[in-house]
This record gives sequence, structure tokens and C-alpha cells, in this order.
Amino acid sequence: MRFASCPPNKIAAGATVAVFCFDNAKRGIGAYFYGPSVDQALAEARNEGFHGKLAQSSVIRPRNGSIARFIFIGLGLETEAAVDTVRRGAAQAARIANGLNAKNLYFKAPSLGTATETAQAIAEGVRLGLYRFTEFQSATPTPLKLETVFGVAKDNEEGKSIEAGFKTGDNIGSSVCFARDLINRPPSDATPDVLVRAARGLVGSGVSLKVFNKTQIKKMGMGAFLGVNRGSAQPPYFLHLTYKSAGKAKRKIGICGKGITFDSGGLSLKPPASMETMKYDMSGAASVFAVFRALRALKPGGVEVHGFTPLTENMPGSRAVKPGDVLKSMRGKTIEVLNTDAEGRLILADALSYASRQGLHEVFDIATLTGACVIALGNQIAAVMGNNDKLTARVKAAAAKAGEKIWELPLDKDYLPQLKSTVADLKNIGTPGQAGTIIAGLFLKEFVDAGLPWVHLDIASVGWASSQTPLSEIGSTGAMIRTLIQHILSYN
Ligand code: BES
Ligand code: ZN
Ligand code: ZN
Repeated sequence: MRFASCPPNKIAAGATVAVFCFDNAKRGIGAYFYGPSVDQALAEARNEGFHGKLAQSSVIRPRNGSIARFIFIGLGLETEAAVDTVRRGAAQAARIANGLNAKNLYFKAPSLGTATETAQAIAEGVRLGLYRFTEFQSATPTPLKLETVFGVAKDNEEGKSIEAGFKTGDNIGSSVCFARDLINRPPSDATPDVLVRAARGLVGSGVSLKVFNKTQIKKMGMGAFLGVNRGSAQPPYFLHLTYKSAGKAKRKIGICGKGITFDSGGLSLKPPASMETMKYDMSGAASVFAVFRALRALKPGGVEVHGFTPLTENMPGSRAVKPGDVLKSMRGKTIEVLNTDAEGRLILADALSYASRQGLHEVFDIATLTGACVIALGNQIAAVMGNNDKLTARVKAAAAKAGEKIWELPLDKDYLPQLKSTVADLKNIGTPGQAGTIIAGLFLKEFVDAGLPWVHLDIASVGWASSQTPLSEIGSTGAMIRTLIQHILSYN
């Protein structure tokens, strides 16, 4: 599938045209491009109950003209619509068009942002909306019918803006799908070594990779990470990806991604129902890979990006770390493991210590870290925490631009005593049932250099869709990847 701009007089005969409509608007957006047939079609759609309400849709085959069908997509009230409304509407239109075996699909975006911004949102929406995970189904997957998505442009200049937005959105959207593919894989088909292979595939075009095996991880002193691996038959890996832009880097950014390829809970075993989706506990690592996949293609200047992914299963094998065991982290701090299911913070502790030594200007971590995050924020909003208000604000702005929702939780130091251990420097859990997401954030903060701006994203809430949403099927959502990429691009 490709994306291109198209002048209105070049719309192919037999075209499928998506027409966005605000609630109760007289005409659809871009109606002036499509001749009188579109107004007649909208009148027909109205008769059938289409009023442009948010997420309403109607397919009409016009009687006259050369356009084969109009797909009307409701955007709701104009005063409430935003660029993300277009993203979701594009996903909806693409799903409908593909279901109708359309080969091409034309869009005219409403002016809710610049032409480039809305084109980017359309391309992202199309990619995300059409995503399916079929690798493990025996029926030959129905191939994508949609070949070309066009953005109708009034002139050359607008055409260029649209194509620029399409390029960015296509790359970001397919990078999110790349992460979804890794996350949706069955856990025994997405073991640490499989993820290493996936990361190797990213090397080139400005991206390099260092792979640390178990011996090297030991040598670096990552005892917290290694502790989590002890109950697993699969060897651990620590990956360090680097993207260098052509010019001098003004900003060095690090991203640590939690890479638990399956979280059984370890000896503090999870109940079966909680384990069902625990293949998505490597969403953070997959997000890091996705960011690098996008960087390869988008090649933003002025930045250097480092990705760090500790990869291991969390299993209850006979050598597994036991509740009460003490692990020595890379930073030297000792950790009493009182619950082996609080393993994400253990592997990230060492990843953040490693990252702190890389001369970065800022560091992120992204992790399906706490069940408490799901309780606090549901499945639509990710939790954000950090040690630097300026960086956190910048990430909030990137999230808003990417159409992803995040909410800040306070890393209140008065909760820190909960992490005091009687035998080690820290313990890995606080008081059960109390601010679990914040406690995990406070724990991680102990492993970030004090002067290094750091932002923690807990995506346990948003990483998995248990039912279809506007931009996702059931399964991995690839949440917050768009935000991370948008944030990196903001330094351009
Ligand atoms: N991977 C889980 C967190 C999680 C739970 C993600 C549900 C997505 C959905 C994490 O490793 C974990 O098990 N955390 C424990 C921590 C607790 C023992 C302090 C949790 O949240 O229950
Ligand atoms: Zn766990
Ligand atoms: Zn986990």
C-alpha cells in the first residue's frame, strides 16, 4: 500500500472517496472537489440516518459521475473535533474501504491542523486501522485490497505538504504495526533470542546495535536483571541500539524498554487469568525497536537516540529467585525481592543505571509495569512520571500531538519509606494496594542519576486492547510509540 497526493481533476474513475462530515453540516468536507454527486449522496445518507455524528458512517454509490462510492465518516461537532478525530476517522474509512475490496481511497482532510499534520494523522490511521495479526492462523490471510491512499490537494504546494505528512505518518504507523507484530506473537515464539534477531534487522541506515549476552551482562554487574532471569530456561540479552543523525547531535536521548517476553510472576506466580496476556510484558522493548524502525526511515537531524532493552522471561524454574533473596544491582544498591512478580523494576533498574553512564541529555523508560496503572487509569490513558517538569511537559505536548492520552502521577517522596528494606538497601514492593504505580516509579527513580532528566511511562493500562477500539484490533495497541517518535521529532 502506498500514499500519494492527487489533484482533484485526476481522481480515477471508479474511485472510492472518504468524505468527512461534521455533525449536521450542510456539505461534506471537500465536497467542492467531487461535483454535484456528493451532495446528492449525502442527502441519501441523511435519509438513512447519517448525520455526521462521531464515528457514524454511511456508504453511498452515487447515480451520476465517475466516482464509484462515497464513504461518509462522521467527525462529530466541529468544536470538539481535533487532528486525532481525523486519525480515527481515517482508520474507520480504511477498514470500510478494504472490506468493500476498494483498490484506492481518496481523502480530503478538514482544516483541524496543517495539511501536513492531518495527512500524517490520516496515514497513521489507515495503517493502524488495517492492522491484523494473522501469522498463526492456518487460513491464507486475505491480502490487503487497498493499493493506494490519495490525499486530494488543491494545488502543488498543498500536494507537497500532504506527501510530507503521509511519509511521516506511513512510517510511524507501520512502525507501530511492527511492534504490534512482535508483541502479539506467542510468548514461546518471541523469546529473548527472537527479539535479538528482530533488533538485528534494524541495523543500518544510521542504526547500530550492541548485543550483550549473559556472560557480558554478568561482567557489567547487572545482578537485578540476572536475578529475574534465574528461573528461565531462555538466556537473557541486553541490547543497546544507537541512532546517529548525519550532522552533529544537539540532543542525546535514551529510551529503556521493559523486555519481559513472558511474565508468569516467577515463584510469586500469577493466577491463570492474569497470565493470559503476559506476552505483552515486552511491549516496552518492542516500542524501543519501533522507534528505531521509524528513525531509520525518517532520519531526523540533530539527535542521537539510544535504546536499551533488557530481555528475559520471568519464570519459576528451579533456580528462580526466591522471595527474600537479595540482588545486587549494577549501581551497587542491593534489593530485597519480596515479590518476584515485581520484576519489571528490577530489569529496568539495571537498564537505567547503564543508560545513566551514556552521557545522555535525557532518558525515558517505557514499561508495562504495574497492574495498579490499569486500576487507576483504565485502558485509555498511560501514566507518566518523572524527575524534571520541563521534560515531562514536553512529553505531554508530544502525546497530545500524537493523539495519545497520558496523565501524570506524583512521585511523592513521602512514599519512599515504603521501599525501605530491613536487610537490603531497598525492597522491590511497597504496601499492597497502595499507589502501586507511584511506588514502582519511585523505585526506578533510585536508579537514575540525580541530574539526568528522566520520564517514566507506565503503559500497562494502554498497551493491550481487550476489545476493538478505533485504532486497534484486540491485542497489542503499540501505545506511546507515536508519542516517543513525536517527542524525538520535536527537537528537529
Ligand atoms: N507485568 C506486570 C504488570 C502488569 C499487570 C501489566 C497487568 C499489565 C497488566 C508486572 O510485572 C507485575 O506483575 N507487577 C505487579 C507488582 C506487584 C507485585 C507489586 C502488579 O502490578 O501486580
Ligand atoms: Zn510481574
Ligand atoms: Zn511484568
